[in-house]
Amino acid sequence: MAQKLLEIDHVSKEFRIGGMLSRKKILATDDVSLSIDAGKPVILSIVGESGCGKSTLCKMVLRLYTPDKGRITLLGHDYADRKGYDPNQFRLDVQPIFQNPFETFSMRKTVDSYLYNTALRLGICKTRAEADKLIDETLHNVGMSLAVVKGKYMTQFSGGELQRISIARALITRPKLIIADEPVAAIDASMKMNIVNLFKELKEQYQVSFIYITHDLSTAYYVSDYIATLYRGGLIEFGPAKELMDNPAHPYTELLMNAVPRVGDKWKENMVMPDMEGKEFALTCCKFAPRCPYATEQCRKTRPNETSFGDERRVSCFHPLVK
Ligand SMILES: Nc1ncnc2c1ncn2[C@@H]1O[C@H](COP(=O)(O)OP(=O)(O)O)[C@@H](O)[C@H]1O
Ligand SMILES: [Mg+2]
Repeated sequence: MAQKLLEIDHVSKEFRIGGMLSRKKILATDDVSLSIDAGKPVILSIVGESGCGKSTLCKMVLRLYTPDKGRITLLGHDYADRKGYDPNQFRLDVQPIFQNPFETFSMRKTVDSYLYNTALRLGICKTRAEADKLIDETLHNVGMSLAVVKGKYMTQFSGGELQRISIARALITRPKLIIADEPVAAIDASMKMNIVNLFKELKEQYQVSFIYITHDLSTAYYVSDYIATLYRGGLIEFGPAKELMDNPAHPYTELLMNAVPRVGDKWKENMVMPDMEGKEFALTCCKFAPRCPYATEQCRKTRPNETSFGDERRVSCFHPLVK
């Protein structure tokens, strides 16, 4: 079996909602299993509407949340094994890129100070001169340069430029995995594809895998190697991007695909999602059944198990559109 870069194994995370005394809970992540092989870098996109649990899942991969159930391993190191796992190495190996670049950088610090901090504090560069060189080189790889960035503050850049600088900062540690949670959601529509395409170039150049989280399939369409669809906390479909997008097996993936604007179409805002209800999160039947055009009695009574088909595809549905 190929060694895994990342393995998410039957992971769940529950939140209590509605105040201290409330007993209401929602399963933000519901028994999700996903993995990325080591050796060959990939872009895995995690797609689904707002509120389906994308950020919760990625916060667990970033070790910002601890799973309630299941385990996560990076190159065979279990996150829960505190002794066998060096937190500094983790900071080098896994890097985040956040949604809003205007919140990533403070108004009071120059933007380059973040880059120097990463380069010098984590022991990647021994001297300032070494850091200058590495930072300039990395900025060039995202279409910027140290001469342009040096001494400037966040307000002197556009959202797209700041996101490029965030990507450069992440690359400085030579990570094996970058987690980008809706990195273009706050960016001008015309710049979105530029940034996402950069992931594709950097994947090869830096041999780094990306988990690209988005509610917007149109950006995932062109860059992903694999796609995972989440619905109400659960993974409902997984597969190679092209196969999955050309022939979705889950009716929900089909619905998401049908909402993707094709090249030349006007940009559509994200889909409207019915109100999230705690009880729908907790349904023991197929969670998509209430919205599914193909739902049968079986779907409304029991939860489908995941089935595998093709070489690498998986779907959780009683009536998949492809088998
Ligand atoms: N810290 C939290 N406390 C309580 N509920 C949360 C918390 N974080 C997320 N949730 C809930 O979990 C669900 C999934 O949220 P999230 O992972 O942010 O989804 P997404 O990133 O796909 O929009 C939502 O219903 C959200 O309200
Ligand atoms: Mg989110």
